[in-house]
Amino acid sequence: MKKSEVKARIDILRKEIEEHNNRYFVLNQPSISDYEYDILLNELNTLEKKFPEFIIENSPTKQVGSDITKEFKQFEHTYPMLSLGNTYSEEELREFDNRIYKTISQSIEYVCESKFDGASISLTYRNGSLFRAITRGDGNKGDDVTSNVKTIKSIPLRITCKGIPSEFVIRGEILMPRAVFNRLNDERIKAEITPFANPRNAAAGTLKLLDPRIVASRSLDCMVYFLLAEELPHNNHYDNLKEAAGWGFNVAESIRLCKNIDEVIHFITYWESERKNLPYDTDGVVIKVNSLSQQRDLGYTAKSPRWAIAYKYKAEEATTRLLSVTFQVGRTGAVTPVANLEPVLLSGSTVKRATLHNEDQIALLDLHLNDMVYVEKGGEIIPKIVGVDHSYRNENSKKIVFISNCPECGTALIKNEGEANYFCPNYLHCPPQIKGRIEHFISRKAMNIDGLGEETIDLLFNKNLVKNISDLYDLRMDQLVPLERLGEKSAAHIIKSIRESIDTPYYRVLFALGIRHVGETVAKTISSRFRTIDDLISAGAEQLTSVNEIGPKIAASIVAYFSDEDNLEMIKKLKSTGIRFSAKDESNITRTDNSLYGKIIVISGVFLEHSRDEYKEIIERNGGKNSTSVSGNTSFILAGENMGQSKKEKADELGVPLITESEFLKIIGK
Ligand code: IVH
Repeated sequence: MKKSEVKARIDILRKEIEEHNNRYFVLNQPSISDYEYDILLNELNTLEKKFPEFIIENSPTKQVGSDITKEFKQFEHTYPMLSLGNTYSEEELREFDNRIYKTISQSIEYVCESKFDGASISLTYRNGSLFRAITRGDGNKGDDVTSNVKTIKSIPLRITCKGIPSEFVIRGEILMPRAVFNRLNDERIKAEITPFANPRNAAAGTLKLLDPRIVASRSLDCMVYFLLAEELPHNNHYDNLKEAAGWGFNVAESIRLCKNIDEVIHFITYWESERKNLPYDTDGVVIKVNSLSQQRDLGYTAKSPRWAIAYKYKAEEATTRLLSVTFQVGRTGAVTPVANLEPVLLSGSTVKRATLHNEDQIALLDLHLNDMVYVEKGGEIIPKIVGVDHSYRNENSKKIVFISNCPECGTALIKNEGEANYFCPNYLHCPPQIKGRIEHFISRKAMNIDGLGEETIDLLFNKNLVKNISDLYDLRMDQLVPLERLGEKSAAHIIKSIRESIDTPYYRVLFALGIRHVGETVAKTISSRFRTIDDLISAGAEQLTSVNEIGPKIAASIVAYFSDEDNLEMIKKLKSTGIRFSAKDESNITRTDNSLYGKIIVISGVFLEHSRDEYKEIIERNGGKNSTSVSGNTSFILAGENMGQSKKEKADELGVPLITESEFLKIIGK
């Protein structure tokens, strides 16, 4: 790049970042994800490092974004409120550790804490009373939001403990629990007020409200993470935070003292998924040198401490444009609207589609074509749209309306009372329903038939070779071999796998049939109560609902399924292949061995040979019991890679042994 081009790029980046700072800190309406923001800031940082002649004093790389607004009085921070250096990679984290070690040359203890995703606050206490609460502002001065903060229950107004410093500052994050956020947004949508994009914006917005009574109604919470005073109770960060917890502040239970960077990385890995179970959002882990004297030796840059770093989990939310909405028909006939999006990077992968769940969701979001939407990757693999940035709405854009006829077969859609989804009632002839049922039937948790992917099923269906699940058992080599991409070997594998599926246990066969609302657990319950398919076929709704766990909705669906002549015909055909339609005499199949008899086993971590679900089944088949929590009764933990930290600690405490995957396989004789 020519120097003039570099300068032009730097100017563009600075302008863009400043605009994003304003949207994030002042308007509480960001238009890009943190990840996208960090990419811009990183690019600017790199260019400034390479071309120092273009560095200026007030570049966004040198400044903390400011949340100052004119409605509040401003006060100076006694100790400036700095930012944190951040990284998304383990490699950079190890570099951080090396850098520290070079300065300190002693062993280093780190404190790991969740990085709370809210609005930062600095609380000053004088003689045990909350004196002032100030937002981060520009890092040197911030807005005085004391009256709002006084409404937050987890912030003590007075502390009566002995030995507290006469004046101290405690910093933390104001958070809105996700449950409160969802409730608040529901209310806002009903009242036709723009919903908040995420809990962080809602918390920051609430903190800047002018009426403390409304703030009080929003149930904000506060987690503290930093204690400052002329004289602190302890010479390390960890004990100071624990001390603050004793004074009545909320300190996260997830906090952990780590002896080295490997333990830090273990903590990060564990909380990456576990954080979803916390009631509030976190977006990473903050790693801090524990010893205060080591912190002093390391010092600060203009913007952040050298003794701390934030490891951020990849962006979970992004903003992009809605290009169109298509309607997909699933195996049960349920119609799901799918959003087609302008491709955007989210959690490390490019997202082009997102689920919209159902008609209500579209209405809730008030979606229009070409809207800028917030896409989030939650626990699910398919991302979802969580909000619309109404400021980008084009006045003439078309509102998204739900369809009234099946896009695949044209049949009028119906919606059962009390259900959110429309579905196509053309059970027998609607192609995606037939293909979906076949895909479900062969899936791993059902009949576990190998070698048949979605494409092969499409081919078999289009060539009229398989029109329902029982047709699979008629397939011959000479029909399979000529199919695209299938050779002798794969065809033989498919035929073998189909034949072997005949031995699938009864409850899995029931699940495989794909009866609406009959999932794995319900199938298991039914199979233990109605021991043969004939018992089940002749059971009425009343008999079915007398079973715990089976409500009227499930019962009605089962009755409807077995009232259908075509289904009965198909079952008759399946029966003739030898498939198990009875739980009788099955004890020798489901229980292969008693090597785990009387053992209560907890599974934790990731495994190489089998999935967790398969291990659950193996344990049951071998006479053992699977449990989800570690207790004094636990016989052992089947421990895989990255097993849960809390489970490990509990096991150590109770003396429960950890058994590796290979040891376990030996026990069961494999
Ligand atoms: S420590 C000098 N710890 O992250 C050390 N910050 O980008 C200052 N944050 O504005 C920060 N959780 O609002 C620290 N456990 C935690 C945190 C945390 C969230 C926020 C904080 C700060 C921002 C830094």
